Amino acid sequence: MNKNILLCVSGGIAVYKAVALVSKLSQAGANVKVIMTASARQFVNPLSFQVMSKNDVYFDTFDEKDSNVIAHIDLADWADLILVAPATANVIGKIANGIADDMVTTTLLATTAPVWLAPAMNVHMYEHPAVKRNIARLADDGYQFIEPSEGFLACGYVGKGRLEEPEKITAIVKDYFAEKVQSLADQTVVVTVGALHVPYDEQHIVRAQANGIIGQALANEARALGAQVIQIENSSVDYFMQQLEEYKDRNPQVLFIHAANTPTVEGAPIVSVEGIKAITFGQKVQGTPMLTVISDSWIDFSTQAQLDGQLVDVTNPKLFAQAFWRHLLQGEAQ
Ligand SMILES: Cc1cc2nc3c(=O)[nH]c(=O)nc-3n(C[C@H](O)[C@H](O)[C@H](O)COP(=O)(O)O)c2cc1C
Repeated sequence: MNKNILLCVSGGIAVYKAVALVSKLSQAGANVKVIMTASARQFVNPLSFQVMSKNDVYFDTFDEKDSNVIAHIDLADWADLILVAPATANVIGKIANGIADDMVTTTLLATTAPVWLAPAMNVHMYEHPAVKRNIARLADDGYQFIEPSEGFLACGYVGKGRLEEPEKITAIVKDYFAEKVQSLADQTVVVTVGALHVPYDEQHIVRAQANGIIGQALANEARALGAQVIQIENSSVDYFMQQLEEYKDRNPQVLFIHAANTPTVEGAPIVSVEGIKAITFGQKVQGTPMLTVISDSWIDFSTQAQLDGQLVDVTNPKLFAQAFWRHLLQGEAQ
C-alpha cells in the first residue's frame, strides 16, 4: 500500500492506540504523517509519533518548517487519505461547523482527500444529541466513519465508544485502496425498498408500514460503489418474484438485498431466495440467505442491527449502508 496517510490525532484517552495505528499502517507500506491537537499532546509526547512514522510531527499552524510551502496546505494536498483517530467529540463538532482554529481542523478544511473519522469517547458523549447531529451532518458532507466498538471504556463505563482496534482500522484502509478489485463494479444488485404487498382477497392487499430509508440508503451506496442497481418498490410479492427470475436468468451472479418489509399472511406468496445470493432482514423467505441482518423491530424503524454478530448503529441510514457494504466486501475478500 504505497499511499500517503495523514493521521490527525485529537485528545482522548485512546491517543496511545494511535501510536500503534501509525506502526500498523507503516508496516502495511503506507507513508504516514501525523498532526496532533494540543489536547492530544497532553496524552502522548509527539516524539512517539515521530519515531513510529519516521516523519516530523505537526501541531502548530504557525510553525512553518519549510519556507517553500505552507504546511497545512502542503499536508492537505499530500494526503491520499486523512484519518482522524481518535476523533474527539470536540473535533467532530468543530469540523461539522467549519471551524479551523488549529493545525488539525485547518488542514481538514483545506483538503480534497477523503477524510475518515474514528470517534472515541465516553458512551454518554457518543450518544449526546449534539454529537449525533454533528456526525450526521459530516456523513451528509461525505465524511466516512469508522464506528467505535463496544466494551470497557477508560472512564469506567461499559458501552460504545472505544476506538476501533489499530489492526482493524489498518485492514479497512488496505481494503479501501484495494477497493477497485473488491468494489461492486460489474455487479448487479436488486434491492427491495419500503414494502412489498400481498393479496388479502380479490379487492384488497396487505402492505406493512415502512418508510424505505434503509433500502434506499443501501441502494445509494451500492451505486456509489459502482453497482448496477435495480430498485424495487411498491411491488406485489408475485410480480417481484417474476422479475427476480428474469434478473437471475439474465445474470446468475445477481445479488439480492431484500430490505423491504413483506407481510406474512396465511396462504400468501413468499419471496424465494433459492439459487440466488441473497441478504434478508428477517423476513420469512423460501431458501437460505447468505446473510440475515437481525434487528429488534423492522429495520426501517430500528436503532441497532446485527451483521454476523457484530452490532451496528442504524440511526443514520447512510452510515449503516456504508458499514453494511464494507462488511460484505470484506467478507467476500477473505
Ligand atoms: C483524561 C481525559 C480523557 C479524555 N478522553 C476523551 C475521549 O476519549 N474522547 C473525547 O471526545 N474527549 C475526551 N476528553 C476531553 C477532551 O480532551 C477535550 O474535549 C478536549 O478539548 C479535546 O480537544 P481536541 O479535540 O482539540 O483534541 C478527555 C479528557 C481527559 C482529561
